[in-house]
Amino acid sequence: MLPVPPPSVTQPPPAEAVTPLLRGLDVLRRLTDADGTLALADLARATGLARSTTDRICATLAHLGYVRLDGRDASLAPPLMAVANACLDAMRVPALLGPLADALADTLDESVSLAVPDGSGIRFVHQVLRRRALSISFRVGDGLPGDRCAPGLVFRDGGPLGVDDQLVEPGLIAVAAPVRGPAGGVVCAVSVVSHTSRHGVSSLRDAVCGPLLECVAAMEEVLAASPQATGLRPGPRSSNAGEAESGAESGKGIVSLARGLGVLVAFDGVRAALSLSEVAERAGLARATARRALLTYEYAGYVLREGRGYRLTPRVLALGCAPLSRTTLPRIAAPHLTALSEAIGESVGLSVADGDRVRCTARVAPRRVMSVDIGVGARLPAAATAAGRVLGGAAPDGSGVVAVDGPEDGLRSLAVPVRDRAGHVVAALDVTAHQGRGSAERWSGALAATAAAIAADLHVTSRFVPVPDD
Ligand code: PHB
Repeated sequence: MLPVPPPSVTQPPPAEAVTPLLRGLDVLRRLTDADGTLALADLARATGLARSTTDRICATLAHLGYVRLDGRDASLAPPLMAVANACLDAMRVPALLGPLADALADTLDESVSLAVPDGSGIRFVHQVLRRRALSISFRVGDGLPGDRCAPGLVFRDGGPLGVDDQLVEPGLIAVAAPVRGPAGGVVCAVSVVSHTSRHGVSSLRDAVCGPLLECVAAMEEVLAASPQATGLRPGPRSSNAGEAESGAESGKGIVSLARGLGVLVAFDGVRAALSLSEVAERAGLARATARRALLTYEYAGYVLREGRGYRLTPRVLALGCAPLSRTTLPRIAAPHLTALSEAIGESVGLSVADGDRVRCTARVAPRRVMSVDIGVGARLPAAATAAGRVLGGAAPDGSGVVAVDGPEDGLRSLAVPVRDRAGHVVAALDVTAHQGRGSAERWSGALAATAAAIAADLHVTSRFVPVPDD
């Protein structure tokens, strides 16, 4: 994948910039560019910071839930998606125009995306994937250089159509059109993406042009009825993110990283621009602290000041969004299953409905001679398993805990539901153990707590992107 090119101009940070915040942002960006995981040693090398400094930054980020530390590795964790959600929420483009992009993808049976300008590049803010088996697929949060993709050409030339004839990747072709706000400025570009095995660029243009331009007209109507959506600004054309001056870390420094990150999630979709007082109030910070954080973000290109208001720029999506929007339910569940299995010493798993069966989508078993062996991918009859009963809607006493003997003789299984943002049961978390190992019911509290933790991660991750169940 082609990353957005690094900034070419380097200015030193202003004297009031919060160095630990700049360093924390740099760590998050490096992890994002590495698709979500880096060894701590590589992170220190990449940032040019002392290993002890990156370890302390990662410990702070882990404490905030934004990073998970696992042995030698640091990985981005689902709660960081709240930062991207604040940005996507504030720009309102995905919420307002996403359903029309989805409908266009259905009409054309091709992939469709929405992208906004980000400095000299573009950033995807909505993706509907179709027929992507043959090519790479970009996700929400991914960036591309502006001169190497259809939406970038649209932002540069103003339309009417931008054409990507395998600029990004051999075989990948795309046609993009600008979507204008009521004041006439280009707010985003909608792209239809296909493959040379299905179309040449001119046949793609002929095939999609009518529905694409109809979709653009419908999008412009939506924007006209909702003018604040056009409040998005592309951000500066160069930035010095990560160019922090070096200096001693202090305990206070790490506190300033935590406080500074709280400023980003203070933004939401109700009003894209916030005043300094509003940011301070929402983040629970003193005005002076909030002002220094905003100044730091402005310098690094994540926030734009307009008069008395501050707005997030799409560059905020470079802080973890793309790797986290590639995640799946089993990947979200994995660390929680490991912690639960270690805590209770039993085999725990996550299952999803699959016709009249349940399919195991993640399982963690303790290392023991006599452990339950139900592998990932195994399909069991729904009626015979606790997970199947839960997925079928059984919740006998309101607790949502269902216990069932079987599916094999001597096994007892206890399951609880995992619900999506809308409250629908999307998975069942179970503990399955030999009956001789005692009463399964004593695990119901731990099981419910783990299901709630998985659901919380799922909810923050799935706000703007679909999360597949395997
Ligand atoms: C996309 O993946 O949505 C995409 C890729 C390349 C383009 C435009 C869109 O030029």
